[in-house]
Amino acid sequence: MIKKICCIGAGYVGTPTMAVIALKSPNLEITVVDSNKSRIDAWNSSNSYDFPVKEPGLDDIIKEVRNKNLFFSSDVEKHIDESEMIFLAVNTPTKKEGEGKGFAADLTNIDECAKQIARVSSSNKIIVEKSTLPVRTAERLKEIIKKHKKNDVTFEIISNPEFLAEGTAIRDLFKSDRVLIGCDQTEAGLAAMESLVKIYKNWIPKERIIKTNIWSSELSKLASNAMLAQRISSINSLSALTEKTEAKINELSLAIGKDHRIGDKFLNVSPGFGGSCFKKDILNLVYICRQYGLEEVAEYWHQVVKINDYQRKRIFNIVNSTLVELKNKKISILGWSFKKDTNDTRESSSIPISSDLIINGASLKIYDPLAEKKQIIQDLTTYLESKDLSLKEIKSLLSQVKIQSTLSECLTNTNAIIVLTEWDEFKQVDWQNNKLNTSQINLPYIFDTRNILDIELLKSLGYEVFQIGNGDNTIK
Ligand code: UDX
Ligand code: ADP
Repeated sequence: MIKKICCIGAGYVGTPTMAVIALKSPNLEITVVDSNKSRIDAWNSSNSYDFPVKEPGLDDIIKEVRNKNLFFSSDVEKHIDESEMIFLAVNTPTKKEGEGKGFAADLTNIDECAKQIARVSSSNKIIVEKSTLPVRTAERLKEIIKKHKKNDVTFEIISNPEFLAEGTAIRDLFKSDRVLIGCDQTEAGLAAMESLVKIYKNWIPKERIIKTNIWSSELSKLASNAMLAQRISSINSLSALTEKTEAKINELSLAIGKDHRIGDKFLNVSPGFGGSCFKKDILNLVYICRQYGLEEVAEYWHQVVKINDYQRKRIFNIVNSTLVELKNKKISILGWSFKKDTNDTRESSSIPISSDLIINGASLKIYDPLAEKKQIIQDLTTYLESKDLSLKEIKSLLSQVKIQSTLSECLTNTNAIIVLTEWDEFKQVDWQNNKLNTSQINLPYIFDTRNILDIELLKSLGYEVFQIGNGDNTIK
């Protein structure tokens, strides 16, 4: 019976998942470990403001279970050795160099974990793949472990991909649509799977626990993310067409989504999907397809990412052509995180769109309720570095950027406002009052790339508004 669990990786996946397992399984002792000591210190802070991941509902759970049956430690080896089950929740970004550069998943962290587990384990372990991994990673793990393990210790690898979405992670974990567990179809593999099933049964109805072979489980995660992203690219591609035909994308989404075979989720138009998963997972899928010689399949999925880039570029072009000349224009960026209710900014569409604006001479005021100033600067710097700009040029471009700590600072004294994240705070702006604070001739253009603002109200106040995919736009 499993009594002690270790989770390697105290990030967006590891911590929320372990917090919920700890809450629902008081008899288990769970330790989340990470090689990043400052991250562990932050999770151990008495002030939840210091927690490195902001997720609605997470603070309360951590306060309830921390130091009872959930622990955070940077002593990775000790907790690996003491546990019977080890979750791998480390990051697997896209490879920046070597074979598969720009497409394949960088498995360095996973490989390191496998080596470390094999080296330090003096008793049998079940290893659970939680991170998103390419199909057949379990095979790779087995080989690494075989090479480094002590003779008499056995390891069983199972796959249990995480489907939580940021911002709703706790809700997703409490009420999962499904829990997927894949294993080798051997006696030992099936037994390992059942030990994990037993833990989930503490709160997940058994009909929602799907048991598959290990390869189906690994591939299902990539395929699920690819299909979700594909819906977004589909609706975003259609937004370009609705703008040309005087149709409205929101009405299209409604009409399409009412067909129960299609469903109404993930049909919201946007400046493109962000987040740590979608792009990375699709590129990884593209790479895997190519490795198996499936060029047409690879190209089909690659198109989902290409449309995402197209949508970002399209938004930049719309702002650029509306303002005629970006040089010396002041533009306010509303929203930096890749979606609302998270401080995560990875792959956010705000990054390329804002970078293109400053490269073309605009000055930016940026506001986000949760993303930290240093993260925003880091994101811009990294993006600009990828454009082969010199340090001097980057420094000069960054001097065109001001990070604001309140929304109101972005609403006046600006030529244009671009809503890029759908934060509730942006829906609640008192535009009437804002107009009073702005001289009539200087009313900023408003570009609402999430279609969350009341366009009729804004128009009645005299604002010129662009809503994405809305053929009725006031900016022509
Ligand atoms: C995603 C998957 O949803 C989750 O199952 C998986 O485990 C991890 O990847 P996440 O990236 O956290 O989760 O957020 P998600 O809600 O899927 O949003 C991803 C991006 O798509 C965001 O930028 C969001 O704004 C965008 N999006 C989402 C749209 O543009 N339109 C939509 O209709 C939905
Ligand atoms: P995710 O969104 O997948 O959870 P994060 O980057 O938020 O990704 O978290 C992954 C965590 O894994 C990071 O805190 C990182 O320090 C940790 N990590 C990566 N590799 C290792 C490793 N070999 N040993 C311990 N921790 C690791």
